[in-house]
Amino acid sequence: MASYLVLCLAFLLTTSAEFVWRHHTNEQLPVILEDIHARCPNITRVYALTEPSVNGVPLYVIEFSDNPGFHQPYKPEVKYVGNIHGNEVLGRELLLGLAHYLCEQYQNRDRKIRSLIHSTRIHLLPSMNPDGWQLSTETGCVDYLIGRTNNHSVDLNRNFPDLDAITFEFERQGINHNNHLLKDLTRLAAPLEPETRAVMRWIMSVPFVLSAAMHGGDLVANYPYDESRSGAPVSEYSASPDDDTFRELAMAYASAHADMASATRRGCHTGNSEEAASYNFGKQGGVTNGAAWYSLKGGMQDFNYLATNAFEVTLELGCDKYPPASVLQQEWERNREALLAYIWKAHTGIKGIVSDDAGFIQNAVISVVNITGPVPRPIRHDVTTAAYGDYYRLLTPGHYEVTASHPGYFPVSRVVTVPRHQTAAHVLNFQLEPTTSWFDDETSFGIYPHGLRDGQPRIYKRSIYEQVAKTMLDRKESAKQ
Ligand SMILES: *[C@@H]1O[C@H](CO)[C@@H](O)[C@H](O)[C@H]1NC(C)=O
Ligand SMILES: *[C@@H]1O[C@H](CO)[C@@H](O)[C@H](O)[C@H]1NC(C)=O
Ligand SMILES: *[C@@H]1O[C@H](CO)[C@@H](O)[C@H](O)[C@H]1NC(C)=O
Ligand SMILES: [Zn+2]
Repeated sequence: MASYLVLCLAFLLTTSAEFVWRHHTNEQLPVILEDIHARCPNITRVYALTEPSVNGVPLYVIEFSDNPGFHQPYKPEVKYVGNIHGNEVLGRELLLGLAHYLCEQYQNRDRKIRSLIHSTRIHLLPSMNPDGWQLSTETGCVDYLIGRTNNHSVDLNRNFPDLDAITFEFERQGINHNNHLLKDLTRLAAPLEPETRAVMRWIMSVPFVLSAAMHGGDLVANYPYDESRSGAPVSEYSASPDDDTFRELAMAYASAHADMASATRRGCHTGNSEEAASYNFGKQGGVTNGAAWYSLKGGMQDFNYLATNAFEVTLELGCDKYPPASVLQQEWERNREALLAYIWKAHTGIKGIVSDDAGFIQNAVISVVNITGPVPRPIRHDVTTAAYGDYYRLLTPGHYEVTASHPGYFPVSRVVTVPRHQTAAHVLNFQLEPTTSWFDDETSFGIYPHGLRDGQPRIYKRSIYEQVAKTMLDRKESAKQ
């Protein structure tokens, strides 16, 4: 075993303080992060998740922000998670390289990187499964299954609560309760592993907007849902309410990657010719719906979307799960623009603050109807406001009716256009009036409370969606007669 270790870490014996592309050990990983922090103390923070791995290795994160350690209103939070399967190691090294690059380019006054760090809070977790990495590395760094699981032999990407089952059941019953479904979970299919629990606590405590989980073994950006509705194991497209947005997010990564989206590249699985044809994702733009490829339960991707406001995609970074150290730098160059382009996607769609006369409203619900086409289509996945009343709603270009609501207030709806090529989300703030003040306050009695007094765009008393739906119903009725 020791000789194998020397073999895979052969590039290890270099002395420069510069970043070196190699497979960094679990001991080196926090040293690299602390080194980056020492060079960029004002824009970074290194922390560990609440629980370590089964074998007691802390799960380290490096955060980039111009105010490390704090959530700020209007500033979306993004995360990358690498090495979930211990034997899929490229994401781990790419995230260490990305952390180094962000710090260095910030110091070099790279305008785009500075603007990214000033407008975004970015968290990088290079390794969610350090124990699996250790085992896989000690057994020869081969492209095989050893080290995929954690030290309890549990696949962490099957260990999250299965919220898909809950949302599919609500769909069947016609119940429009479509977000933050962890509260609706009645029992776990399997005990949570420490790595899963640590990541769940993290996911639930930071108001993430956008996320990507990194894997290896193919070259494709995979988007929700991962689980099929019927239970079919393969080839059943399982669209989420945000299917268009997710496809665009996945394509943002794929098309900025050197060849993920290339129609002429070879597929990864070239053995059996039929399989090779069906799994050549380059021919479909380098993206796939999860369940259309194969269905899985208990994945992290769908959990993010169904338990929180975060949109997560799964990145398969290459055919080789454990590529040799000699190709890491080249892989970085192939992925660098994609890694950055994807983070910028947190600045698409709309964002804003929901408040009343007294201050921010936390947990207000933001719901959206797509009014781009002739028929308004509600997007049945609401997001909620964070501690400063702030929300972030990723959307593709188009026209939308957006409603902010909270018990005890009159809901307010507004129409907004999301333009193409955004580098900042469109700001749409809402001021809500409590339902009580309408009756309590003599002076405003009888006046509809959502006036035009502050020069804001027109606020609709009743949802356009409701109006159009009613018109369509009326038309149907009169057609019948
Ligand atoms: C960090 O910020 C302080 C105060 O603004 C400044 O004096 C210092 O040079 C900064 N350090 C780095 C490494 O940028
Ligand atoms: C758990 O970790 C120990 C110590 O590294 C190792 O010897 C053992 O093979 C691991 N077991 C599994 C199932 O990963
Ligand atoms: C809204 O509808 C338009 C037209 O059908 C579509 O192109 C766009 O992607 C939709 N937006 C979302 C977020 O679903
Ligand atoms: Zn994997």
